[in-house]
Amino acid sequence: MTDTRRKILIGVAWPYANGEQHIGHIAGAYLPPDIFARFQRMRGNDVLMVSGSDTHGTPVTVKADEEGITPLDVIERYHPLFIETYLKLGLTFDLFTHTETQNHWEVTHDLFLRHMEKGLIYKDTEAQLYDQQADRFLPDRYVEGICPNCGAEGARGDQCDTCGAIYNQTELKNPRSKITGNTDLQIRDTEHFYLDLGKLNEPLIEWMATGKEHWRSSVHNFTVTQLEKRELRGRAITRDMTWGITIPLEGYEGKRIYVWYDAVIGYLSASKEWAAITGQPDAWRQWWDSTENPDARAYYFIGKDNTPFHSIIWPAMLIGYGGLNLPYDVPANEYLNMKGRKFSKSRGTMISIRSVLERYQPDAWRYALTAMAPEGNDVNFTWDDFVERVNNELIANWGNLVNRMVPFAYKRFNAEVPEGKSPDDMDRHLLNEIRNGFDKVASLYEGCHFKAALIEVSRLTHLVNQYITEKAPFALIKTDPEAAATVVRTALQSITWLNTMWAPILPHAAQSVWEMLGFDGLLFGSQFVERITDARGEHLVLRYDHNGAIGQWEAVTLPLGQHLRKPQALFTKLEPETAEKETEGQESS
Ligand code: MF3
Ligand code: ZN
Repeated sequence: MTDTRRKILIGVAWPYANGEQHIGHIAGAYLPPDIFARFQRMRGNDVLMVSGSDTHGTPVTVKADEEGITPLDVIERYHPLFIETYLKLGLTFDLFTHTETQNHWEVTHDLFLRHMEKGLIYKDTEAQLYDQQADRFLPDRYVEGICPNCGAEGARGDQCDTCGAIYNQTELKNPRSKITGNTDLQIRDTEHFYLDLGKLNEPLIEWMATGKEHWRSSVHNFTVTQLEKRELRGRAITRDMTWGITIPLEGYEGKRIYVWYDAVIGYLSASKEWAAITGQPDAWRQWWDSTENPDARAYYFIGKDNTPFHSIIWPAMLIGYGGLNLPYDVPANEYLNMKGRKFSKSRGTMISIRSVLERYQPDAWRYALTAMAPEGNDVNFTWDDFVERVNNELIANWGNLVNRMVPFAYKRFNAEVPEGKSPDDMDRHLLNEIRNGFDKVASLYEGCHFKAALIEVSRLTHLVNQYITEKAPFALIKTDPEAAATVVRTALQSITWLNTMWAPILPHAAQSVWEMLGFDGLLFGSQFVERITDARGEHLVLRYDHNGAIGQWEAVTLPLGQHLRKPQALFTKLEPETAEKETEGQESS
């Protein structure tokens, strides 16, 4: 290990608590950070991975209005479902909380007031769309129209889903009220607070100018291009609505802080909440305080539509606040789609991650979604591809290797790691190849190239399968049991190393393999759910405790004579009809 122990903050996009997540969300922004977190913890670094439900703004109120329930009802339905799903999939958040907490309100107020004090927030009057039939302003998702940037239909008041542009709602063409369908909208003046991004354009350009070589080119180019236009202007950070965080000043009772201003603050507030919950209230500073620890690294895992908020607006807010570490990397992903479009309930192409975890192993999804990861371009999901990845890649390669060699050793070598003869060139060559894999695979995980890491570990796994085919220990044992023993020992040692390399992607399988090989202890720590009470009420949180985790990124020696445990099948093979059944089920539901 060349790196010394480092503090690594992993921020994961805060999911809107207005609906279930589909596998595209998971492939894009939820699984990658967990792979990264597990890898970094194995490296011996101190990871703090935080996120939570994004509970404010029109995404939640529109949903509540549609169902005639309160925003709180909406949150209380979806927030626990996220937690249940992340627990099953093994997403090891140090803290997954939500934004309707006392702590988050306080931290948001603190930022707002500090930005104000520093002259970065000003008040102005602007024209906003007003629906006379509903007798209210139409913030964000309450209005739809034609995107002023790309011309797509169905663009919302604050962002276009098609091209990702963000703009002011009065720029929308042919606006239409989502509440009443009214197209005869008024324009009325209203007073709002604005974040003066114009003042932060130059500092952002300067920040982007150094140490960004590791950024994905799509994110880097987008950010630099936006900044070099020097078009950043004041951006409204309040809205005319009554759900959300209040403005910490007298006289604005009918207005709330804009959801995007408070949501990104969640990374900081959740870090503070984690510190408080774990009884070390200042611990968050080791990841955030740029005086105390400028070497800490903050990574933000998001889908591409969130890019401007994380590569421009949040850094601007942090620069404006002062004394806090800026993002080290923003490895935004493209989309995992279905038939070339986003997963959609109304088109019958919604594949909720929660429902598929009821039918398939978490590691099957972790494998398939990493193999399909939309790292550089949009990728189409098909059930055929899923079955193919699980059966013909994961099971045929890694599953097959483990489930051929461990039972063979268990039955024919008295459930022990045999010694055999001294290794020949082929044995030594294989062990060298596999051991050398640690560096290459580490640099791929480190650079957030998870799909490439998977491909490299698969290649190494395949080498061991080829070695076994050539050495044919199952036949050899009849003529030369000592030579067969050498093969088994070499293969089991290779499996031990490969298991470490697979562990960030396949943590559940890794624990089983570890135990079958006769080792004790937990590679990773444990996850649990807790109920927290504060001045705003109660909220559920998902937590992770790293204590006692022994998984390390190193080539552990498998001791000769070590007692193996009873072998178990690692993965469940999918029925050939799976794809057909799933596709049918989807189209008829
Ligand atoms: N809720 C937003 C979405 O689902 C993501 C917010 S990321 C945050 O697109 F960090 F800003 F919260
Ligand atoms: Zn657009």
